[in-house]
Amino acid sequence: MITLNDQNIYTIGGISATSLAQKYGTPLYVYDEAIMRGQFHRLDTAFSPIPLRKINYAMKALSNINVLRVMRSMGSGIDAVSVNEVKIAIRAGFAPQDIIYTPNGVPMSEIDEAVALGVHINIDSLDTLTAFAEKHHGVAVGVRINPHIHAGGNEKICTGGKGSKFGISIEYMDILETLVREKNITINGVHMHTGSDIYDVDIFLQGAKLLFSVAERFSTIEYVDFGSGFKVMYRKGDHITDVERLGRKLSKAFNEFTGRCGRPIRFMIEPGKFLVSDSGTLLVTANWVKTTPATTFAQVDSGLNHLIRPMMYDSYHHIVNISNPLAEKKVYDVTGYICETDNFAKDRRLNEVRPGDVLAIMNAGAYGYTMASVYNSRFRPAEVLVRDGKDYLISKADTLEDILSRQVDLG
Ligand SMILES: Cc1ncc(COP(=O)(O)O)c(C=O)c1O
Repeated sequence: MITLNDQNIYTIGGISATSLAQKYGTPLYVYDEAIMRGQFHRLDTAFSPIPLRKINYAMKALSNINVLRVMRSMGSGIDAVSVNEVKIAIRAGFAPQDIIYTPNGVPMSEIDEAVALGVHINIDSLDTLTAFAEKHHGVAVGVRINPHIHAGGNEKICTGGKGSKFGISIEYMDILETLVREKNITINGVHMHTGSDIYDVDIFLQGAKLLFSVAERFSTIEYVDFGSGFKVMYRKGDHITDVERLGRKLSKAFNEFTGRCGRPIRFMIEPGKFLVSDSGTLLVTANWVKTTPATTFAQVDSGLNHLIRPMMYDSYHHIVNISNPLAEKKVYDVTGYICETDNFAKDRRLNEVRPGDVLAIMNAGAYGYTMASVYNSRFRPAEVLVRDGKDYLISKADTLEDILSRQVDLG
């Protein structure tokens, strides 16, 4: 999150954003820890009517070890989707029982590793569950359910529809129950993640109802995991998930559900974007301002190699020119330097952009750096964390050596 102060200086966590760009160079990812903490607190408060609750941070959104430690310090657990994420979370100090691993389509060997590491596991297909039961007899396991609810801000992040590859179809619950009985499997949790960027509270409630009906089939359930998908504000006027309303309604439904079960069951959610999106800003410099007969381009020193979301999900990221905040506004396409179309924004009104100006791309905390690559043999940016008014380098930019060191030169 970047804000304009009384002296017309853009700041991140109280530090001038231009001074950060000067100190570390651009492109640069900057994260404001206070925003993450505020978001965690807000979500935890929204679900406070549920005594036994756990927020598991979806570390795929932003997996720097320092960010994981921030989450841990607030009592968060971890939602991991690969065994490497599990290992990084353990390095960050999370206990295995605070990590929930929900893979999709991974080899059995990866699941075996997760079993050996002692984390909770959600299995998302009947065949995998059968193989799991044969190999890990007696190990309790959770199941990911596909609720057949098509929802989400973009087709690529709708994960709960009938045609989606995720989860065990809600239509297969009788088969699941038979399998569990025949193989003597202990199902200790049910999980669902319908999609991302869902603002309609009723969609979450509809999914919850289905999940309760599945959970009620298994007397060994210890947790119900509702996944995530809470939509954040990208621009003024956006529909966003009303987490306070969701908290009230889902808490009530959950407490009624546990009342029916007559024993304590843990409530879980696994937000990524909600916790870190707004905390992150990508600072870039305009290399050139290029005018064509049709368009004026602000060409910046970054691209889809650093923030792929606009090209991958058509996501909107608010952009401000922090070097020229009082100038008249003009219309630009903000583009990167990659060898294919890589717009950050189209037809965007910005304070006049001059070569050398620093632009701040907002809501870049989630799925920004973690999806970055060295495409075009360009370096991934450095990352900086702002904590209590001080800035800390938390990952270095790549070097040419980093890129070349992974190549095997056959001469
Ligand atoms: C299984 C699972 N859980 C949680 C998340 C986090 O979603 P969000 O960033 O919308 O909170 C995702 C995102 O892809 C996911 O696939």
